[in-house]
Amino acid sequence: MIHAGLIGCGAIGSTLAKAIKEGKAGQTKLDYLCDIEKELLDTLYDEIGDETIEKTTDILELIESPRIDLIIEAASREVVTKYAPSALKKGKNLMLMSVGALADTKLCNEVNNIALEKNLKIYLPSGAICGLDGIKAASIEKIDHVEIISTKNPRSLIGAPYLLVNDIDISKLEKPETVFTGKAKDAINGFPKNVNVAVALSLAGIGVEKTHVKIVADPNATKTRHEIRAIGDFGELVTKIDNYLHPENPKTSYIAALAGVRTLKKISEPIQIGT
Ligand SMILES: NC(=O)c1ccc[n+]([C@@H]2O[C@H](COP(=O)([O-])OP(=O)(O)OC[C@H]3O[C@@H](n4cnc5c(N)ncnc54)[C@H](O)[C@@H]3O)[C@@H](O)[C@H]2O)c1
Repeated sequence: MIHAGLIGCGAIGSTLAKAIKEGKAGQTKLDYLCDIEKELLDTLYDEIGDETIEKTTDILELIESPRIDLIIEAASREVVTKYAPSALKKGKNLMLMSVGALADTKLCNEVNNIALEKNLKIYLPSGAICGLDGIKAASIEKIDHVEIISTKNPRSLIGAPYLLVNDIDISKLEKPETVFTGKAKDAINGFPKNVNVAVALSLAGIGVEKTHVKIVADPNATKTRHEIRAIGDFGELVTKIDNYLHPENPKTSYIAALAGVRTLKKISEPIQIGT
């Protein structure tokens, strides 16, 4: 049995907590809930209705708890940057939804080294994309090119630092417009809440400095589309997924939360499917 603590009771966290309660996440038991927003914390706690769960607004309290051996992060990039190294040092395995934090190579190496030393795991769910299995296999030999094109409704992108800094107004678009082209490393800084997938793809493939990202704002889009193309010694890969938006957060695709649930199930399963 995995004893888990959850940081973040928002869109993904709520879906994860409810799925664990319903037995959809394999041998996972939720022991701790944390959110800085007390109201959100209390609401989810009441919805789950399990008095064996402890709750806190203080991340450190959760990290220190001897009850848990896996911390599920569904909060923010800042939470990963600030707390992932110390959580590992406390002997906790991690499952991170804010994968974008690991675009910081220094942090990525640091958490990798602590986990190696302490024999712990850091699980990064494939989130809102499909095709990571192929990219991982392909990465054993040379991959020449990886690109991801993400097409989103402008309301999923509003507030992104890149748009604010460059004074790009996407609120009155009438047709699809490319708002960013560049490398994954810059994409995640410009769109920290939108392109975690580009960083997951980079970590599975050729890295954040080489993975190409294009972001398109489409006023008629009702779903978020991610298309991936890769070329290398293996051949050529093309994937496309059209995701429904999470009902509680239009920046998040619903399947990202499901990928988290499936990762928890995988951790506790004897048969491991996929690369
Ligand atoms: N890997 C992927 O494919 C993928 C897809 C979508 C979203 N994400 C990322 O997952 C994370 C969660 O997404 P979401 O849609 O659930 O967001 P959300 O905004 O709905 O929920 C985040 C919750 O975390 C809480 N929180 C923030 N800082 C905290 C702190 N210091 N301590 C405790 N709680 C804190 C917030 O109060 C909020 O309730 C985000 O970083 C998002 O960018 C990843």
